[in-house]
Amino acid sequence: MRDELETAIREVIDSSAFAGGPFVAKFEQDFAAFCGAANSIGVGNGTDAIWLALLALGIGAGDEVITVPMTFMATAEAISYCGAKPVFVDIDERTYTLDPDLLESAITPKTKAIIPVHLFGQTADMDAILEIAKRRGLPVIEDACQAHGAEYRGRKAGSMGTAGCFSFYPGKNLGALGEAGAVVTNSEELKNKIQMLREHGQAKKYYHTLIGWNARMDGIQGAALRVKLKHLDRANEARRAHARFYDEQLAGVEEVILPTQADYARHVYHLYVVRLQDRDRVLQGMADRGISCGIHYPIPVHLQEAYRFLGHGKGSFPVAERCAEEFLSLPMYPELTTTQLEAVVHEFKTLISASKSTYERTA
Ligand SMILES: Cc1ncc(COP(=O)(O)O)c(C=O)c1O
Repeated sequence: MRDELETAIREVIDSSAFAGGPFVAKFEQDFAAFCGAANSIGVGNGTDAIWLALLALGIGAGDEVITVPMTFMATAEAISYCGAKPVFVDIDERTYTLDPDLLESAITPKTKAIIPVHLFGQTADMDAILEIAKRRGLPVIEDACQAHGAEYRGRKAGSMGTAGCFSFYPGKNLGALGEAGAVVTNSEELKNKIQMLREHGQAKKYYHTLIGWNARMDGIQGAALRVKLKHLDRANEARRAHARFYDEQLAGVEEVILPTQADYARHVYHLYVVRLQDRDRVLQGMADRGISCGIHYPIPVHLQEAYRFLGHGKGSFPVAERCAEEFLSLPMYPELTTTQLEAVVHEFKTLISASKSTYERTA
């Protein structure tokens, strides 16, 4: 995409539209259309997107916002930075997203919003969550930072709740050339408020109706994202094909739990995450063979030092905790070649059978 990106960046330089401006506005239109939503508002990053969506909904001190402990820290940080308290609900063992069966019992009179996280590229069970939210009069903010183009029963991630929040961090399925994010919403009122909040609370230059912040998207990022959005469907298809390859090749390996695509989902595999007991040894072995794997995430949010004050001990959210010990992310990006995929599978299987025979010898 280099030539297309360089042309797009040159246009931004030629017009000096660096902060917000027309290139961001064009991307916003394209991205809203892609998500099947009425509006999108470009912001500085995904953390800003969640934070501003919460602020725009009037959430603040004394409020509670429900989310999951198995997510990137930013989901909870955004809640805390509104002055609200994150309340965690454990994840479903198969999809690794908010377990709707546990949701209702976490709702209190202080609950003001629910943030399901579409983890690893697969949406949460939105119908079940939206039904509870509707009944209890609560807005749903989708954390779709890992789910650009993912679908739930044919509906795009980010378009189903009151607002959907996206990160365009470079490693995401739709990645900028730096930091960027967006909120997607069908609400005109929410759009107007977030547009003001991202720009110092002003509707008109130097006339400040609200106390806002500086959370604009850069012009260069808007222009680059517009180019990359045209390639997103193809890139997601490539990820899905790689996932199918891993699924087929690893199907018989009994020590490994493979990711599942729920019947409701079109998974876009931001990450391909397997589970295994002997994770740390296999991770090190892969690194020794020059194959970088990852752990997303090694410590669930409720056990992070920063959230110790909430008082959640080990065992509070057992599924998230077990997953944190067993998750291993295999290499996943659209440009992976068949040779690379075969090498990953070969080394991974070799390491698994080596650790199996170690167990057998010591047993
Ligand atoms: C689930 C989730 N939420 C929020 C974020 C925050 O996005 P950003 O890094 O753009 O602030 C990320 C990405 O890093 C994420 O993966």
